[in-house]
Amino acid sequence: MAAELSPIDQAKFVAARRSVDFVEDGMKLGLGTGSTAAWMVRCLAERVRDEGLQVTCVATSARTADLARGVGLKVVGLDETRWLDLTIDGADEFDQNLNLIKGGGAALLQEKIVATASDRMIVIADAAKEVAQLGAYPLPVEVIPFGWQTTKALIEETLYSLDVMARDVALRMAKDVPLITDEGHYILDLNLKRIGNPRQLALVLNQIPGVVENGLFIDICDVVVIGHGDGRVTVRDINSGKVETGSVDITESRNIFADLD
Ligand code: A5P
Repeated sequence: MAAELSPIDQAKFVAARRSVDFVEDGMKLGLGTGSTAAWMVRCLAERVRDEGLQVTCVATSARTADLARGVGLKVVGLDETRWLDLTIDGADEFDQNLNLIKGGGAALLQEKIVATASDRMIVIADAAKEVAQLGAYPLPVEVIPFGWQTTKALIEETLYSLDVMARDVALRMAKDVPLITDEGHYILDLNLKRIGNPRQLALVLNQIPGVVENGLFIDICDVVVIGHGDGRVTVRDINSGKVETGSVDITESRNIFADLD
């Protein structure tokens, strides 16, 4: 199975595998959503099984909760832990300041609440997610279904006064109906091509009635673990400025792949 992974999936896997080295016994953990986070959940379960770690997890989506329980992790609600030691999650884009676009998997609201409730957030990503400027990936914005067309028009109007390169806003669909998030909302994807001032955009969007939250994560991420298709991993810590490189041997995780066969 490991041999069948595409270079992108190998990159996601090695980033996920390296990130669980940051987990310590007794920690309260936030579990992200998406394909990279799904690898992380499996790698975490392997460490818990092999080393007998006691960890308590809070998931950022129903699908991550299902996966985590399925591989034997203890999952509780955020109201039970209130605060977390560490959250590990994927991202759609990250820049040199470790500001992020998230929400490609429609879980941005719970992801932002959980990451903000954590002492530390680690992002795991393949190297292609790094950008000089955020915005090539459409920015997800979670909105209330009531009056969503009015909210969309207000967002479009607001974008005209902001430093972005394009201003196309689309309702995210699931086949031929609007996609509904875990919290019962819609997602508007803002195709902006380049975001000149992500901090300003994040603040302004959240002032619009009907907007619940946007997918810009500003000053939330502490560490990025970047995976490469050849097994190399780079760990960059924004607070200490440290950059560390290493590699992950995929064959050592054959139990994870055996579970998937
Ligand atoms: C989920 O809503 C997103 O924020 C994901 O973290 C992001 O889309 C990354 O997903 P992949 O790991 O699948 O690329």
